Amino acid sequence: MVTIPAGERDSFGSTIGVIAAAAGSAVGLGNIWRFPYVLGENGGGAFLLIYLGFILAIGFPVMLTEFTIGRRAQRNALGSFKKLAPGKPWYLIGLMGIVAAFLILAFYSTIAGWTLEYLYESITNGFSGKSSVELKNSFESFQAAPFRPVFWQFIFMFLTGYIVFSGVKNGIEKYTKVLMPILLLIIIIISVRSLTLEGSREGLIFLFKPDFSKISWSVVLDALGQAAFSLSIGMGTLITYGSYINKSNNLPRTAFQVSAIDTFIAILAGIMIFPAVFAFNIDPAEGSGLVFIVLPNIFQQMPGGYFFAILFFTLLAIAALTSTVSVLEVVVAYFSEELNLSRKKATIIGSVAISVVGIFATLSFGPLAKYKLLDKTIFGWFDYLSANILLPLGAIFIVLFAGWYLGRKNVLDEISNGGLLKIRIISVFMFIIKFLAPIAITAVFIYGLGLM
Ligand code: PFF
Repeated sequence: MVTIPAGERDSFGSTIGVIAAAAGSAVGLGNIWRFPYVLGENGGGAFLLIYLGFILAIGFPVMLTEFTIGRRAQRNALGSFKKLAPGKPWYLIGLMGIVAAFLILAFYSTIAGWTLEYLYESITNGFSGKSSVELKNSFESFQAAPFRPVFWQFIFMFLTGYIVFSGVKNGIEKYTKVLMPILLLIIIIISVRSLTLEGSREGLIFLFKPDFSKISWSVVLDALGQAAFSLSIGMGTLITYGSYINKSNNLPRTAFQVSAIDTFIAILAGIMIFPAVFAFNIDPAEGSGLVFIVLPNIFQQMPGGYFFAILFFTLLAIAALTSTVSVLEVVVAYFSEELNLSRKKATIIGSVAISVVGIFATLSFGPLAKYKLLDKTIFGWFDYLSANILLPLGAIFIVLFAGWYLGRKNVLDEISNGGLLKIRIISVFMFIIKFLAPIAITAVFIYGLGLM
């Protein structure tokens, strides 16, 4: 095992930096692209309620657990388990996280690439004069093209690699601290615009009014998968970020703030999109093209649309970038600490390898669309496997590790900063990570996957 002398590891420089980076990871395409369409496909308000339940009862505790493990061990996602449980098989959780990172980034960079194409189109006024049908067709033909989407995917991976290359403090923290406030401002501006559209009421009803007849176990599994994906939990991203957090940081508070910001932005994304979807008579269950088809349509028809289109796709690109950076960091931290590569080499190898896998995800909307297994394309499998299987599974093992292996004494010592902070919720927290979260996730798995 490589031992890195204390003080040599990169770290975040301030609490604001920690929050910007972790919220940057959590807030992403998951909130603005994935959440609205998964909610749309699963019937709206009732899905939202279950989703919120999962964020509070499982998402937030798992996030805190990941920070705790990472900060205790001061290592990457796999090395943390090796260090805290030497000679035991717990490190396999970390290995699963590295695999998940590859899968997620491979399909995530596809969509991230689309945002750049759409940003480019909106700047060059490419939507102008197109009817809804034409907009839908041009999205579909862009998606299915063999080169253009791959080109944008590579550009996006390059940007991601560029930030990670520069390090934790001088790369990730520096950029997320500037980008996150911009993101927040843009999303608020567009939500206000959307709410003032005529006919927006129906969209709000769809988003907020629960209709429990829509609930099935697969909807519940989707809500759990979406909650895990959105908070970036279950694969060691937050273990990795946790390992860069200063020993005096208040971890429960940070985890709570990050979970709250993420949830707030997902709801704002719903408020931004559904009123518009209904105001323009579009099917909320449109699927993964929802924001790319719906929004250009609306921007076309509303005053100031040119300006709002640029704002929106800038928002999407920023949200995606601060998340892709965190996923790449999982791989880079692992490569550099466990395989002894320099950060720069690790970044290059990691980004190139992921980009290559990513081509398959991107082309599964075009040339590879016919390769399907159980009705899912390669992209569909990367998404389903990572969000609905690997992340919840990772979350189960992460909490079991902290709850049963590390145990109350170690966990309390770490989250209370060696006894300096008063942690009133410790018993509730231990109960959640030892029993509630693992049992609940297992149950959702069994039913949601149709195993029973
Ligand atoms: N949380 C990100 C989003 O909502 O877009 C996606 C993500 C990032 C998932 C990092 C997992 C992860 F480790």
